[in-house]
Amino acid sequence: MTDFTTLTNPCSGVAFSAGITGVGGYLPEGVVTNQMLASRLDTDHDWITSRTGILERRIADESQSTSDLAVEAGSRALRSAANPEVQALVLATTTPDFRCPATAPYVAARMGLGKIPAFDVSAVCSGFLYATSVAVAYVNSGHFDSVLVIAAEKFSTLIDPNDRNTACLFGDGAGSVVISKVPVGTGGQILAHAIHSDGELESLIKVKGGGSRYPLSPHETVNRPRSDYFLGMQGREVFAAATASMSASVSDIISTAGWELDDLDWLIAHQANRRILNLVCKSLDIPPEKACVHLDEVGNTAGASIPLLLAAKSRQFKPGDKLVLTSFGAGATWGALAMTWPALGTIEAP
Ligand code: ACO
Repeated sequence: MTDFTTLTNPCSGVAFSAGITGVGGYLPEGVVTNQMLASRLDTDHDWITSRTGILERRIADESQSTSDLAVEAGSRALRSAANPEVQALVLATTTPDFRCPATAPYVAARMGLGKIPAFDVSAVCSGFLYATSVAVAYVNSGHFDSVLVIAAEKFSTLIDPNDRNTACLFGDGAGSVVISKVPVGTGGQILAHAIHSDGELESLIKVKGGGSRYPLSPHETVNRPRSDYFLGMQGREVFAAATASMSASVSDIISTAGWELDDLDWLIAHQANRRILNLVCKSLDIPPEKACVHLDEVGNTAGASIPLLLAAKSRQFKPGDKLVLTSFGAGATWGALAMTWPALGTIEAP
């Protein structure tokens, strides 16, 4: 079988592989605490913290759209990279600025990236891992030397502010990485990545209205229930599926990377729920302190949560540390990625 994971420079004989060479994150300024939610919904701080671990979340204001968050995060990732040149942009988002066209070309134009290929990827909370796997394939095939991946979500636009089942869980934000050719064996190298889906689980997390099945039209909108235009979620079923899928993905990717579980320095899991993180650690016998946690401050930022976590916790990581990234999201989609931490320039706090 052809090995697509490394490329060798015919002149120098040096083998190259895709690696992370820049990281950035951006959070909007508006903070919504549990107490603020409890003042207008039938919920309370103790219920939210005990069930989820979330204390507060950031919500973008009306003037900010997904592209605004994406430009901030992407610019920060490029500033942290030694070489800010990229030949493509892949944007993971569930909340594009418009239903048509994609948001990525506009983000590329605003960032002054030139007329590079730029497109959106939609895999909800697994969007970052899906977009990254596209970028890794581009780099490992030799098609591009460097690709900018951004995951940006104004997820609050999908949430009914009056639905206590979901309003407590989600927040807005954006994260970004630069994926470039790095010499094999150096920090940042992506050693293994895997993504999966199961459309049989489509109904677990869904916004029914506004797509081609139930188009957004004056007629449809008045005849369909209001709840169809916001995110609906079967919380307990999602909880069980997320725990099982992320545990299996982490275990599989560790063996694909040729590591043992004990080798793992940091688990970078999608930030949905503290109890899900604890259960994944317990099922794999990973010490819980190895699981990085940011959801207390930002809630579930969907596709943005993994790169935001990398940016927020970057000071904890040493070059060469072994990281596994994993996610589960609507679709259902899930996956994992094994990498070593790179030596980077200053990563700005999100
Ligand atoms: N305050 C008080 N009560 C609430 C609240 C709230 N904010 N939200 C729900 N409840 C109630 C429900 O109405 C329900 O009441 P009922 O039993 O009378 O019907 C009850 O609490 C549910 O309680 P539990 O089942 O004990 O709640 P659970 O422990 O499952 O926690 C939660 C609920 C937090 C939603 C959990 O199931 C969860 O985190 N699931 C995973 C969610 C997730 O990961 N989503 C992201 C997926 S990724 C993506 O792609 C979007």
